[in-house]
Amino acid sequence: EQVVVAIDGPSGSGKSSVSRAVATRLEVGYLDTGAMYRALTWWCLERGLDLSDQDAVAVASRELPLVMSHDPQAPAITVDGTAVDLAIRETRISEAVSAVATNLAVRADMKQRQRVLIGEIASATGGVVAEGRDITTVVAPDADVRILLTASEAARLARRSKELHGSDDDSSLERTREQVVARDAKDSTVSQFSVAADGVVTVDTSDLDFEQSVQAVLDVVRA
Ligand code: CDP
Repeated sequence: EQVVVAIDGPSGSGKSSVSRAVATRLEVGYLDTGAMYRALTWWCLERGLDLSDQDAVAVASRELPLVMSHDPQAPAITVDGTAVDLAIRETRISEAVSAVATNLAVRADMKQRQRVLIGEIASATGGVVAEGRDITTVVAPDADVRILLTASEAARLARRSKELHGSDDDSSLERTREQVVARDAKDSTVSQFSVAADGVVTVDTSDLDFEQSVQAVLDVVRA
């Protein structure tokens, strides 16, 4: 039978890398919902839209010509035929994405798209690991397995700092803190991870390395 695994968590919790590894081990497809908000942001900027124009951005969301690969070992994303895998990770996108993600019409559209994708991927591959910030609560509250991946702020900043700046020395940590804290604050209407929602299992990765985090999630899936 199919297994739908929903994983939410803040930046630096290890959500994306752990989710991909879990999908690989379970031999099911993978859905990165953050990449969808990032791709929409990229497309709006590409077209010169004013991100504070709620209606224009909502229309762009409905029209977004997005194609994603759901192979956890080769996630790929195109917008209108252009590969945007690298572009959507740029700082300018990370700084702008919250403006798009807090648009309620965008969220409604993304929820619909993500529900359809979860169903399609699950039928095609026998299951799906879908990750983001509101998957356990809004997009797939009826998922078979729902996990909140957390980590202490110190652990999250150290991981993000290595990703963004290749180091977790003091100056890299400080730059990361500014970027991540600013985005968390902007995202606070979308997601708050201080307490897990009812029925959601918390996996704290503060003291776990990557492989241990993957195992901890697989333990919840197999429980
Ligand atoms: O870079 P990080 O892993 O922290 O985030 P991401 O998963 O790439 O998501 C980027 C942004 O998309 C977040 O900061 C949120 O603004 C938004 N997002 C959302 O609103 N809902 C989701 N389910 C996933 C992402």
